[in-house]
Amino acid sequence: MKNYKRLLAYIKPYMGRFFLAIICIVVASGANLYLPWIIKDMIDKVLAERDMAMLNIISVSIVVVFAIRGFFYYWQSYLVSYIGQRVVVDVREVMFRKFQRMPMAYFDKHQTGETMSYVTNDVAAIQSALVDNLIEFFTEAAILVGSIAMMFYLDWKLTLLTLITVPMVGYAMKIFGRKIKKSGTVIQERIADITSLLQESISSIRIVKSFVREDYEIKRFQVENNLNFRAMMKNVQLTSLLTPTVEFLAAVAVTLIVWFGGYEVVNGIMSAGALVAFLTYAVNLANPVKRLSRIYGRMQQAMAAIDRIFYVLDLKETVNDKTDAEILPKVKGHVSVENITFSYDEKHNALENVTFEVQPGQMIAFVGPSGAGKSTIANLIPRFYDVNAGSIKIDGHDIRDVTTNSLREQIGIVPQETLLFSTTVMENIRYGRLDATDEEVIAAAKAANADKFIQDLPEGYQTQIGERGLNLSGGQRQRMAIARAMLKNPQILILDEATSALDTESEKIVQAALDELMKGRTSFVIAHRLSTIFGADQIFVIDKGQICEHGTHQELLKLGGVYSHLYNIQFSNV
Ligand SMILES: Nc1ncnc2c1ncn2[C@@H]1O[C@H](COP(=O)(O)OP(=O)(O)O)[C@@H](O)[C@H]1O
Ligand SMILES: [Mg+2]
Repeated sequence: MKNYKRLLAYIKPYMGRFFLAIICIVVASGANLYLPWIIKDMIDKVLAERDMAMLNIISVSIVVVFAIRGFFYYWQSYLVSYIGQRVVVDVREVMFRKFQRMPMAYFDKHQTGETMSYVTNDVAAIQSALVDNLIEFFTEAAILVGSIAMMFYLDWKLTLLTLITVPMVGYAMKIFGRKIKKSGTVIQERIADITSLLQESISSIRIVKSFVREDYEIKRFQVENNLNFRAMMKNVQLTSLLTPTVEFLAAVAVTLIVWFGGYEVVNGIMSAGALVAFLTYAVNLANPVKRLSRIYGRMQQAMAAIDRIFYVLDLKETVNDKTDAEILPKVKGHVSVENITFSYDEKHNALENVTFEVQPGQMIAFVGPSGAGKSTIANLIPRFYDVNAGSIKIDGHDIRDVTTNSLREQIGIVPQETLLFSTTVMENIRYGRLDATDEEVIAAAKAANADKFIQDLPEGYQTQIGERGLNLSGGQRQRMAIARAMLKNPQILILDEATSALDTESEKIVQAALDELMKGRTSFVIAHRLSTIFGADQIFVIDKGQICEHGTHQELLKLGGVYSHLYNIQFSNV
């Protein structure tokens, strides 16, 4: 319930509209209370006393009451929907902001589908919790309170008798509510599982097809799909049982009223019209109770979604700027890594006691078997993760003492696989520096050997890139990534296997563009093919998270260790 209150805080900016909405709801539902009163007057005055004037008054008032009710009904729907949709939009944005700020470690641990489900399914659940439930809650509450007031006015003894059943109904609701909430959680988890599986399977469709694992994937999906069905049916069972139970208790109440009320009319204590009106109120009482119980059930279901949303919003953003973090001034590119140790999972160290120093403008290469920790070094320099021990300094500034933004602004990264966004080629390159002019974008593309192939695209720089840049080759994507980095113009560069996924032909073109990019910048190059790093100022051989050899190409060959062994394997035929 604490989280529901936190959600209601999102209504705060719309308080004015909210109060107007409640007024509209109360008036519109209050009009419903008028009908039984008409029945009473019809029976006791018009029919019993043949009062023609009363008949006229009743006729006119019915028309007037319904006109008023219609007017307020429109505004209640409009206002409540407005508030509900605004809250949904606001929460969705807050969630999106949160995910943009989450540390890399979060994305290592959670599947994309799961994260997507938070923003789509759970936020949608809020909408029903707020819009539908709030309207119904206030409507039914107003009718409930109004009806009970009318009943007391008509006959208080009869009313008290009626109300004996209320605690019984309440108890039934409570038990069901708890179970419905639990099954709601299970449903949402099952839906998230399906979404994850779907996401994983569709985005890896190449792999699925290449291994001929379509049937295997289908089986996996069937299992999840059926689990979802079962969770759904469990919930349906509970919600379907709730309604008849509450209705039965209401029927018991009606029987009591009919008997005691009939007794009073027979003995002249109550008028016939009053009894009929009372019965109408009492029978109608079942509706709000029933609907309130349904709202309660839906609320429990939504609570699971709301809990998950706030769980996400409360997650810690681990890599945080210090409160007194300074802006890193434009750096020369001196990098000093001092005795760092780092672990992703706190169990085994991905890096251990790594120390090295790089002068501005130098090119540094990391080689070593996969899993050695090369990318991990590349991850620590832009502070995607914090080191567990030791420190990394750029131009003498510990990177934990400066703002993450000012640090990352000065580091360019070209990864092995470049992700392009589904927008134009122009905008994709401009991602490197948002205020770059078209001319600057084109200049960067030229420097990255990308201008020519871009010109040849159907609409040149305005060509739309499909999802994941499917219609560009790996070499073309890498050159766009280089153009991006050129535009960003960082003093420090990280090339993590930037050419490893390319064939030798496109590797040459991309390498030429990379050489251009590296000029005058401190560059960290991680490479499989040693040919690309012969000219490095220092080469570090990494193994099992430690530097095992270092020196220039010539020095390392002379040493006759791991590096020269790797060299001999790669160049034995040359
Ligand atoms: N995001 C991650 N979460 C947990 N462990 C990771 C993560 N990335 C890498 N590792 C582990 O850290 C070690 C070093 O990995 P990495 O730096 O990627 O190696 P390399 O780039 O040299 O191939 C490996 O044991 C790898 O399994
Ligand atoms: Mg790697």
